[in-house]
Amino acid sequence: MALLEVKDLCITFGGLHAVEDFNLSIEKGQLYGLIGPNGAGKTTVFNLLTGVYKPTRGSIVLDGNDITGHRTEEINRDGIARTFQNIRLFHQLSVLDNVKTALHRSFNYSTFESMFHCGRYRSVEKKMDEKAMEILKVFGLDTVALILSSNLPYGQQRKLEIARAMATEPKILLLDEPAAGMNPNETAELMETISLIRDRFDMTILLIEHDMKLVSGICELLTVLNFGKVLVQGETKEVLSNPEVIRAYLGDE
Ligand SMILES: Nc1ncnc2c1ncn2[C@@H]1O[C@H](COP(=O)(O)OP(=O)(O)OP(=O)(O)O)[C@@H](O)[C@H]1O
Ligand SMILES: [Mg+2]
Repeated sequence: MALLEVKDLCITFGGLHAVEDFNLSIEKGQLYGLIGPNGAGKTTVFNLLTGVYKPTRGSIVLDGNDITGHRTEEINRDGIARTFQNIRLFHQLSVLDNVKTALHRSFNYSTFESMFHCGRYRSVEKKMDEKAMEILKVFGLDTVALILSSNLPYGQQRKLEIARAMATEPKILLLDEPAAGMNPNETAELMETISLIRDRFDMTILLIEHDMKLVSGICELLTVLNFGKVLVQGETKEVLSNPEVIRAYLGDE
């Protein structure tokens, strides 16, 4: 059974079929790429998978559970975490606290305990600090844990966003153009980080990306979207040499 099984997913905005009859099947541990020209519907697919939009038709099954129509927070609890095309961090918070915001779901104390720093508050905070530091270490961000996230270089901010998503212990991680705006060194480092997450946590990853070097370097399978529809699906090498795919990309220039 696939970890993520998407069937006939559709959404329209006014008259526009932004995503139409979208099908996708991802096995556990796969590193899967979703590519396509600007405006093809890639981010809309992520918004459908994470409950930001409700599909007009179709179904989303994660690990055997039908999550179609669930709300965003529910879907996060169900096991889908994402990052955004335009980076979203709490810029006024430290690197450590950014990760801790994602941990509050699994570590609990009452409002009273938090207001008066009593009861479970101190021990829970300590445990959260330890857990957050553990996660930051994996991403090589433990040495900058106490600085404001807005003071991190861009490449590290992107990494922190992924670290925060991983802190929710998802079953699948969705990354929306993580290499956008990165220089070649940062992109190469990001590629290593993504591979490391997959290998170390046996994580399943669905990646939207325009950087073909990154896509061909780490994705085993690809789906190409064009005008809201699946153009081609299959193994990366074959998909990228498919004439229809080449045409769709050249037509975009
Ligand atoms: N909330 C919305 N209301 C109306 N139209 C929308 C909405 N969200 C997306 N669209 C439209 O749906 C289409 C697909 O947009 P989407 O952002 O999914 O493309 P994309 O493949 O992620 O593109 P890019 O590579 O530029 O990020 C576009 O025509 C976009 O304008
Ligand atoms: Mg997009």
